[in-house]
Amino acid sequence: MTDVRQWIVPGRVNLIGEHLDYNGGPVLPMAIDRTLTVKIRRRDDDIVNVWTDRAGSAKASFPVSVQPGDVDGWAAYAAGTIWSLAETGQTFGGVDIVIESGLPSGAGLSSSAAVTCGIAAAINELFGLGLEKADLAVIAQRAESGFVGAPVGLMDQLAVLHGEVGHAVLIDTAAAPPTTKPVPLGWDDAGLVLLVIATGAHHSLADGEYAARREECERAAAELGLEHLSQAGLDATVKLTDEVLKARTRHVLTETARVRAAVSALNRGAWPQLGAIFTASHESLRDDFEVSCPELDTAVEAAIEAGALGARMTGGGFGGSVIALVPLDKVATVRERVEARYAARDWAAPEAFVVHAADGAHLV
Ligand code: GLA
Repeated sequence: MTDVRQWIVPGRVNLIGEHLDYNGGPVLPMAIDRTLTVKIRRRDDDIVNVWTDRAGSAKASFPVSVQPGDVDGWAAYAAGTIWSLAETGQTFGGVDIVIESGLPSGAGLSSSAAVTCGIAAAINELFGLGLEKADLAVIAQRAESGFVGAPVGLMDQLAVLHGEVGHAVLIDTAAAPPTTKPVPLGWDDAGLVLLVIATGAHHSLADGEYAARREECERAAAELGLEHLSQAGLDATVKLTDEVLKARTRHVLTETARVRAAVSALNRGAWPQLGAIFTASHESLRDDFEVSCPELDTAVEAAIEAGALGARMTGGGFGGSVIALVPLDKVATVRERVEARYAARDWAAPEAFVVHAADGAHLV
């Protein structure tokens, strides 16, 4: 193919600050060195062709004027991005796109944000649209909320676009637009690694549970007379009467405090403390926010038993992946322990791999 541009787009893990990005709280994701590739070239018409190796090598075609409802399945992420870009009034023509994924989909590593951000960034550059990363993030987010039907926050898109080698991305989602700041990660020098355990359990943000949590948080904020739930004071859980809303609010308040404590631990190299913060976050997501599942809980418990300093589910929940902060010499033990605990329950062995903080979407 001639005139083909190639983009490398990372997935992400969230270190801490779960379910805070739609509550005006701070979040601390990092782009990872598990990536997908977006190849793109112009066409002379207004047709968009997308090939992917994701769903067993498939192709989709639609016009640049595609509308919500016209395309579903995996291709909705691509079509949604085209629709969302066009909605901003940008003018561009047809393209051929090939997506090659080194990112397991459904693993909670934001393969969807990688697809939407990768396509938005590639079209922006190919047609000289002059959009900033902040604009691209919002365009990619709208592709999911307005086309795919998953009302996600902005964390994944900002992480995928703003990632930097050796750094996490601290996002203040209360600012309009949200601000990002790189935070250096020093655990490598301390002989630690970040292990991802992809549980293989079902993970879909569009299946209603995510939207339900979001709606509960909005209801709690409204009852407290707040714009964002993360602004709630310590008395919030006393003021609310509904037990479910109390629990959701407790998670948002304690998780907001944990993000600040985690940034401080990272700055000081206080690794056992960072691990403990991860584990506390998991417990809060399991008990107060109720977005965990047995596969995630088992992986967290097994990792800690086998020597991880701490572990937690990452991303939206209901399946997906766990992250664990693990001494390098304990990685094999952690892997074996998780596999053994899974085998005892007749679950397929999860995939476990070390990740490093990587650069955001970039042209090769
Ligand atoms: C998913 C969403 C994000 C965020 C997380 C939970 O990954 O896409 O916007 O809300 O869940 O922290």
